[in-house]
Formats: sequence, structure tokens, C-alpha cells
Amino acid sequence: MRIIAGSARGVLLAPVPDGVRPTSNQVREAIFNALGQFFDGGEVLDLYAGTGALGIEALSRGCARATFVEKNGRAVHVIRENLRRARLVRKGDVLRGDVMEVLERLFSARRKFYLIFADPPYRIQPREIRSVLERLAALLAPGGRVVVESGDPLIETINSLKGVSRRYGGTVVTFFERTETTMNVAICPGSFDPITEGHMDIIRRASALYDHVVVAVGANLKKKPRLSAEQRARLIEKVTGRLENVSVEVMEGLLVNFAREQGARVVVKGLRAGSDFESEFQQAQLNRMLYPEFETVFIMAAAEHSFLSSSAVREIASYGGDVRGLVPDEIQEIVHRVYVDEQAAANDKG
Ligand code: PNS
Repeated sequence: MRIIAGSARGVLLAPVPDGVRPTSNQVREAIFNALGQFFDGGEVLDLYAGTGALGIEALSRGCARATFVEKNGRAVHVIRENLRRARLVRKGDVLRGDVMEVLERLFSARRKFYLIFADPPYRIQPREIRSVLERLAALLAPGGRVVVESGDPLIETINSLKGVSRRYGGTVVTFFERTETTMNVAICPGSFDPITEGHMDIIRRASALYDHVVVAVGANLKKKPRLSAEQRARLIEKVTGRLENVSVEVMEGLLVNFAREQGARVVVKGLRAGSDFESEFQQAQLNRMLYPEFETVFIMAAAEHSFLSSSAVREIASYGGDVRGLVPDEIQEIVHRVYVDEQAAANDKG
């Protein structure tokens, strides 16, 4: 058996120990094809791990960490050896023990997993699979999947999990995801350097469309803001305080990872003139490659804001100009103070 794709592609795995029924290469490939590009960041849990091939394949394709659970001591040894061969030792935790007991521990520790594999021995009682699945529902991160292998199709809905079964030769694989009506959360990301009336309009309109809006203050690597992300976030909190379903967070790293953490599948952006389109189009396409269920929704800027941008506000403020009507009233003073360039303002007056 070999790792199929990703950083450890082609790595030959250690021989399968007695008593372990590994997922065949074909079934493993079919599972990963069905999951698509599901692996950016996020933690994976590999139950009845056997050789660890499923969890290691997920790590190789970009999952951040993997926890392997296996009762058989020889198999535990093989999982460690396979992690070593794939050069992924630092990303894997191997827990030896009974699956139900380990699940209770993970649950008490409030762990959440984005991808959970369960390949129980086929002779396992359907009742046991049911109790494992009930526990897994609580360990599944928003937007995550549980993949269960069995000899026969499984009950397709269990608690808050809904499954779809596919047959690959003698193996049935059921993919579960959550069915419960979750809150419809949208992210409004930006540099907000500083927040303008144009941003405020988009945030207000998004808050009327979604259950909750998270304003994400990000680092645009091409820009060097004068205020830290924390300071920009505090300014936004000040001006969005009256919008009950809006919260503000600093976003580190990729938008798609942040969205997953927040349980959001939608990003809302304001669109002004055609000049915004090209870069927004590119970002939307890239973000969907990284997170296929992620949608970018554009709200057209109000006509009176179509000329307004943070960079224009910065420029006006830097020459000591009046930013009234361009940024929310509550932060006018601060914007004036932070962005004024004493020298430029003096030259302008002189
Ligand atoms: O207000 P801005 O500067 O247009 O905001 C840009 C921002 C912060 C939304 C964008 O740079 C972003 O999403 N940054 C997070 C990092 C990321 O995910 N980059 C890949 C985007 S394709």
C-alpha cells in the first residue's frame, strides 16, 4: 500500500499486521476523490485506524493534525512506523485504546474534528456503530464530514448526521454531514484601514440578510496599516455596537480557514466600480478552490459610496482634510488624529 497524493505521495507503507483489514488502495482513492479538496487545515480523527493509511493520506493532502485510535498493539506500532515513513510524525497522535473510551475522553476535552474516518471491523454490532456515530456528531466541527466503511449500507440519518452510502466492490462507504439547521453565518472581511461609511453600509445590509455576521479584520500583505489589526477591530466594534448580530474578530492567516473556524460558508463583499471586479473575482475563485462549499456574495455599493475607499480617506486625512460623512461620526476624531501627516498638512496650508 502506498500514499496516493500530497506531500507523502508514493510513500510505501509498512506491511499490514495480522488481524487488520486495511482499506484497499482503490477504496481509499475513491473516498478521497469523493471528498474533493477537503483538506486544507483542520484536524482529522482516524478510528479503528489499522495501518493509519486514511489519516496519513489526509495529512499528506493538507490536514493540519491527525489523531489515530487503535486497540491492537502491533497496529499501533505500524501506524507510528508509517507516520515516520511519511515524515509526518509531528502531525500525528497515536492513542491506544477502545474507541468508545477514547471518544469519551475527546468529548470531555471539547475536541472538534473536521474529518473523521471510522473503518470498524465488519463484524462489529450495528448497535455499536450507532453509539459511535452518536458520539461523533458531537465531535464534528462545523462543515465537517464523517466517513464510515461497512459491509452493508448504514442507516442514513442518525441524530444530527445525514449520510449518503456508496458501494465500492464489497465495501460500502457512507459519508455523513450535519443536517441540523445551523445559523447562517457570513464573514465580512477586509483591511478596514480605516472602516468607512461604505463598509458600514455593506455590514448593515449583510446583517439584514444573515443570522450572524462576523467582521474579519485581516492582514492584506500588500498594505502596511498604521493601526494594528486589534486597534482597527476596536474601532469597528465601536461603530457596529448597535447591530446585535454583528461581531468583530481579528483574522490571522487564510480567510477560508477562518471561515471554517467560524462555521461560515459565505463571505460577503462590497463591489464598487468595475475596477474592484478583477481582484475580487480572482480571490473568489481561489477561495473556492481551497474550500469548495464556500460562496462569495457581492453586495453592490450604494451610488453615494461608489467613489469611497479607505485609501481616499487616508489621503484626505493625511492632508488634514475633513472626513465627515466618509467615516462613521464616532471615529472621525480618531481617524483624523491617526492618519494626519503633520508635515503634509502644514505644506498644504502653506
Ligand atoms: O480590504 P481589503 O484590503 O481588500 O481586504 C483584503 C482581505 C483582508 C479580505 C484579503 O486580503 C484576505 O482575504 N486576506 C486573508 C488571506 C487570504 O485568505 N488570502 C487569500 C485570498 S485569495
